[in-house]
Amino acid sequence: MCGIVGYIGKEDAKEILLQGLEKLEYRGYDSAGLALCNEKGITVIKEKGRIADLRGAVPLDIQATIGIGHTRWATHGVPNKENAHPHQSESGRFTLVHNGVIENYHLLQQTYLQQVQLKSETDTEVIVQLIEKFVKDGMPTEEAFRHTLRLVHGSYAIAMLDADEPETIFIAKNKSPLLLGVGKGFNVVASDAMAMRQVTDQFVELHDQEIVFVRKNEMMITTLDGTIIQRDPFTAEIDMSDIEKGTYPHYMMKEMDEQPGIIRKISQQYEDENGELTIDTAVLKAIMNADRLYIIAAGTSYHAGLIGKQYIEKMAGIPVEVHISSEFGYNLPLLSEKPLFLFITQSGETADSRQVLVKVKAMGYPTLTLTNVSGSTLSREADYTLLLHAGPEIAVASTKAYTAQLAVLAIIAYVTGKAQGKVQHFNLKKELAITANAIQTLVDAKETFEEIAHEFLATARNAFFLGRNLDFYVSLEGALKLKEISYIQAEGFAGGELKHGTIALIEEGTPIFALATQQAVALNIRGNVKEVVARGAHACIIAMEGVEEAEDRFILPHVHELLTPLISVIPLQLISYYAALQRGCDVDKPRNLAKSVTVE
Ligand code: AGP
Ligand code: GLU
Repeated sequence: MCGIVGYIGKEDAKEILLQGLEKLEYRGYDSAGLALCNEKGITVIKEKGRIADLRGAVPLDIQATIGIGHTRWATHGVPNKENAHPHQSESGRFTLVHNGVIENYHLLQQTYLQQVQLKSETDTEVIVQLIEKFVKDGMPTEEAFRHTLRLVHGSYAIAMLDADEPETIFIAKNKSPLLLGVGKGFNVVASDAMAMRQVTDQFVELHDQEIVFVRKNEMMITTLDGTIIQRDPFTAEIDMSDIEKGTYPHYMMKEMDEQPGIIRKISQQYEDENGELTIDTAVLKAIMNADRLYIIAAGTSYHAGLIGKQYIEKMAGIPVEVHISSEFGYNLPLLSEKPLFLFITQSGETADSRQVLVKVKAMGYPTLTLTNVSGSTLSREADYTLLLHAGPEIAVASTKAYTAQLAVLAIIAYVTGKAQGKVQHFNLKKELAITANAIQTLVDAKETFEEIAHEFLATARNAFFLGRNLDFYVSLEGALKLKEISYIQAEGFAGGELKHGTIALIEEGTPIFALATQQAVALNIRGNVKEVVARGAHACIIAMEGVEEAEDRFILPHVHELLTPLISVIPLQLISYYAALQRGCDVDKPRNLAKSVTVE
């Protein structure tokens, strides 16, 4: 969600910052801005809309070697130019960008800033006005910065310029992500390493409640109370070609196409020297020590968790509960004696999941993060991490991370089950190879899904996804995919559930996507389809080879019954993509959504 970049060095800051903001676009935002600092002072440029609009507004002749940039995902105040960051203090001396939410901004404003005329509706502006107030009261900038942050409650990643001290970028972090990047004769800051990977691969992580003074040739990290912290840089292993779209029209299409390769790669990454699937022994031990696993996740990752529960319970025989992270924090269920918390998060930055991690860690429970981003907050803060190896996922709609999550969850379940002698006559590696080939067949059949999207969704107001057992969980994901990028109201249902209320919505032509991959319930789901067709629904049945019938619109290649979610989701991803495209939607950057949801 939203992002921050900063540069201090010798080069032209504006281009580096604009390129950095372009790399952060995938995270979701509604407006953007820059502050450039040179001998003439600080120039602020901001625009509602895309980085391309901001780029167009930046004067070509402006030269600066220091600057900060921001993409905003509005939380307080509508997305417009006034509310876009950077925000400036009353006198214009301080210029600040912020990601996150200041929970007590209103109280701070009432207490300290009654005399100040605020220029925006944001919570952020209070921070910059407070700093100026404390400086006017006599504090040096550094002290005013610290003092303000001690008063602030909430989440923040902050970068600030002081026109009277132009050789320093003031940085602070709490809960919202922010990294420092180290170069020769320059330093940078960014919400993630991808944003500044074009200038350096050396990054330093920041912890909550740390403040940094970033200069051209040095940076000083301190705690809020001033204790100096030494921390070594790490090398960000990101292949720049992974974050380019290449010849693809959209990242989402590129990422859907990458899925067969990713499943094969995961198989290799989780292989021991004898070619057997394996996971880190410490992780395996932690799982086997637990009497119950608690999967904590949001959105698509939650949907993957629902399937992960089936895998772990069936293959490893360990009970699993799956919880939505935003609910879990304040609605703790009765916990078992020896729980292990498994956080599933593509980005590793989701604030809702992180608040649970912080809470259960404080309670002393072991934690494991399954993520696509090594070095991300949830990866760093959990006791153990397993990686998805899916490569950067840029499109807001998650596709390859979901199938990667399913594959790694299957591996976790399988390896644990084998270690306990519970898995026999099943070779997951072989089955994953068959599944990867099946996914390839599906992504190669794009035209068919384009036709289905046109036939079923061209004028649809709503759509329903039905399935039973594993197909039900995939139908939840199918519905999420469709609504997030095409804005068609969509819901996923357990096949038998629709008739308990929602069938009232079925009218002539209502599109229904029904999945039938599970032998034991294939006939039941067909029965549910008959119920809705009798009421006028337009049904698209997607069945698997082996349980197919003449009425089916598409037949999926046969894979092991446990792995069907990895293939049945592919048509739903592609249908959603084409429906969005046909309706003229911005596929990669759907409205109102953010890739990394870094506010609770
Ligand atoms: C999926 O298409 C969405 N982008 C969203 O539901 C996402 O899965 C959710 O925000 C959780 O993100 P995470 O996996 O990075 O924690
Ligand atoms: N809460 C701030 C605002 O609404 C920052 C939002 C963000 O993280 O981009 O402006």
